[in-house]
Amino acid sequence: MSFKIDPDWWKTMFDEVYLLTDARSVCDEDITRKEVDVVCELLQLNFDHDIMDLCGGHGRHSFELYSRGYKNCTILDYSKYLIEHAMVQASENNYNIKFIRSDARNTGIPTESFDHLLIMGNSMGYIPEKKADIHILEEAYRMLRPGGWILVDVTNGTAIKNAFNPNAWHEIGEDIIVCRQRELLNDRINAREIVLSRKKGLIRDRNYRIRLYDSESLSMILENSGYKKVSIHKGIEMHRAKGDYGFMNHRMIATGQKV
Ligand SMILES: C[S@@+](CC[C@H](N)C(=O)[O-])C[C@H]1O[C@@H](n2cnc3c(N)ncnc32)[C@H](O)[C@@H]1O
Repeated sequence: MSFKIDPDWWKTMFDEVYLLTDARSVCDEDITRKEVDVVCELLQLNFDHDIMDLCGGHGRHSFELYSRGYKNCTILDYSKYLIEHAMVQASENNYNIKFIRSDARNTGIPTESFDHLLIMGNSMGYIPEKKADIHILEEAYRMLRPGGWILVDVTNGTAIKNAFNPNAWHEIGEDIIVCRQRELLNDRINAREIVLSRKKGLIRDRNYRIRLYDSESLSMILENSGYKKVSIHKGIEMHRAKGDYGFMNHRMIATGQKV
């Protein structure tokens, strides 16, 4: 296999097609509720805490938190489409949430602005430079108040490697078919995603690459970014039915504190 990958793929791939291809994970309210249950179990959230949902996409975790009474949420994401989608949803639900469109490596947000910072839904490992995720974690550290906690939810690279599936496809409703071809290279996966519509024909044929973390490498990048009391929680599965949910099958959650 030979995958030609635009290093900036992540800047354009999180759009309306992503909300279709990943709907089984990111548009399933039951899964979002379970994920937020885990956040609430692992972090000591107070209703007046300031929470940053970094790489928050279309806002599902902040919306769930808001509906549970955690009203000081900020969603930051690079995707213009997802941020605008989230703003419309928030306004329809009268959710008073802040939105920022920015790069998580350099947000421009004042230092020590948040009590908790979440990076949910496998939102790291996209940028080819190995240091990019450390830059995201260092920026997160800067934004946290002393005593504040980070929670990072990523795919469990060891589980993905052990059950590596080079080809997968699934259907969404009556119209959409998503086909994925994958290649495993040490700590990275190259993937080609083809999305077909029965009505319209080909709607996407794109390649991307994701860096995988195991518990050691995830702990290490958190510790190298300054966090203390780092712990990793594994064996977390959110989907009810067996299936290939891309990188959302096997999850690993790291927590760490800015002391
Ligand atoms: C798989 S989605 C998950 C979104 C959300 N956290 C969720 O669980 O629904 C990954 C998100 O990370 C965002 N992202 C990735 N790298 C980013 C960066 N450097 N700065 C800002 N957003 C980024 C993407 O735009 C995308 O919305």
